[in-house]
Amino acid sequence: MLKRRTSSRPLHHVLLVFGAIVSLSCLVGRLDAQTTTNPSEATALNTIFQRFGIRATQSWNTTGNPCSGLAIDATDIDDPRLNPGIKCDCTNQTNCHIIRLKIYALDVVGPFPNEIATFTKLNFLKLDQNYLTGTVPKFLGNLTNLIVLSIAHNAFTGPVPKEIGLLNKLTVLSFGHNNFTGLLPPELGNLTALEQAYINSCGALSGEIPSSFANLTKFKILWAMDNNFTGKLPDFIGSWTSMTDLRFQGNSFQGPIPSSFSRLTNLSTLWISDLTNGSSSSFDFIKNMKSLSSL
Ligand SMILES: *[C@@H]1O[C@H](CO)[C@@H](O)[C@H](O)[C@H]1NC(C)=O
Ligand SMILES: *[C@@H]1O[C@H](CO)[C@@H](O)[C@H](O)[C@H]1NC(C)=O
Ligand SMILES: *[C@@H]1O[C@H](CO)[C@@H](O)[C@H](O)[C@H]1NC(C)=O
Ligand SMILES: *[C@@H]1O[C@H](CO)[C@@H](O)[C@H](O)[C@H]1NC(C)=O
Ligand SMILES: *[C@@H]1O[C@H](CO)[C@@H](O)[C@H](O)[C@H]1NC(C)=O
Ligand SMILES: *[C@@H]1O[C@H](CO)[C@@H](O)[C@H](O)[C@H]1NC(C)=O
Ligand SMILES: *[C@@H]1O[C@H](CO)[C@@H](O)[C@H](O)[C@H]1NC(C)=O
Ligand SMILES: *[C@@H]1O[C@H](CO)[C@@H](O)[C@H](O)[C@H]1NC(C)=O
Ligand SMILES: *[C@@H]1O[C@H](CO)[C@@H](O)[C@H](O)[C@H]1NC(C)=O
Repeated sequence: MLKRRTSSRPLHHVLLVFGAIVSLSCLVGRLDAQTTTNPSEATALNTIFQRFGIRATQSWNTTGNPCSGLAIDATDIDDPRLNPGIKCDCTNQTNCHIIRLKIYALDVVGPFPNEIATFTKLNFLKLDQNYLTGTVPKFLGNLTNLIVLSIAHNAFTGPVPKEIGLLNKLTVLSFGHNNFTGLLPPELGNLTALEQAYINSCGALSGEIPSSFANLTKFKILWAMDNNFTGKLPDFIGSWTSMTDLRFQGNSFQGPIPSSFSRLTNLSTLWISDLTNGSSSSFDFIKNMKSLSSL
């Protein structure tokens, strides 16, 4: 009895493994055979890549059907093999939608690709560290699934479009190291899901921090340094109680540092300098900042 059981077990395992391989290859075969990218999105993507003179890396086949291979498996968009890269939602296998797009540090040159308006399901857009010029388009406000919008380290000019304030799922907004002009749109205060904003070194971006920013209570990281912001450091910053990293140096803010800063008990980094009248600041607020390691 015992002998038969032990001898039949390996066979059982072999059959199981064989079965698994057969069904896995069927699944892979079926995915290969059946996923189809939404035709308008496929055309838009190919147009963008062609204009920028970039192509998918070897491991990702964009010929005909960009929503294939690495774009539809478990590979993360942060994986270097996906640069340029996309991820797709193939819930409907015959109509896959592009949900993530990354063109990162590939030295592409030219205006913001208008074709991106076609990707209506986009939740992640990263175009950082290129030579993109011209204005940032208003249609971004229509991509209301965006959670991450990152266009830093380019050469964009003109205003920061107020339409970005319509992206109510946005948690990360990064447009630093560009050459914007004008004010911070008060509409950005509507981004109540926002946790991280990198708006540093934006050229001639100026004016006050809009009072609507008082509503950004999920803020954890704000880099606003090296702009031309003015006005009093607002009291409402005390309502950003989740803040861990706040950088304001290199602007023209007026002191003193408001005592409401004492509510920011989770801060680990606080960089402020170049305050006019900053010497009148009381540093009493620091005593509650148990996590502060860089001031
Ligand atoms: C890429 O996809 C096209 C269209 O589906 C197919 O004809 C071609 O053989 C594929 N190339 C590679 C290298 O997989
Ligand atoms: C999937 O997409 C195709 C093509 O757009 C469409 O005809 C079909 O109705 C969709 N299927 C479902 C279940 O939505
Ligand atoms: C946003 O979408 C609406 C409705 O589809 C359209 O009318 C409008 O032109 C779009 N806005 C931009 C700036 O593309
Ligand atoms: C920023 O734009 C202004 C014109 O608006 C231009 O004079 C300046 O050279 C630009 N700076 C950079 C760093 O591109
Ligand atoms: C967003 O904020 C602006 C200014 O702060 C306000 O006028 C506008 O009504 C808000 N829009 C929405 C959709 O909440
Ligand atoms: C910053 O603001 C000051 C005072 O308004 C102005 O003189 C200066 O030219 C501005 N700097 C930039 C880069 O716009
Ligand atoms: C914060 O949001 C509420 C609700 O949307 C709004 O009524 C209020 O005006 C906003 N506060 C500021 C300072 O914009
Ligand atoms: C402060 O940090 C602690 C530990 O990370 C966290 O549990 C708490 O929720 C934070 N407080 C706020 C207001 O975010
Ligand atoms: C500087 O701060 C002191 C104390 O808060 C205040 O009395 C004074 O008016 C301020 N000066 C300027 C120029 O803002």
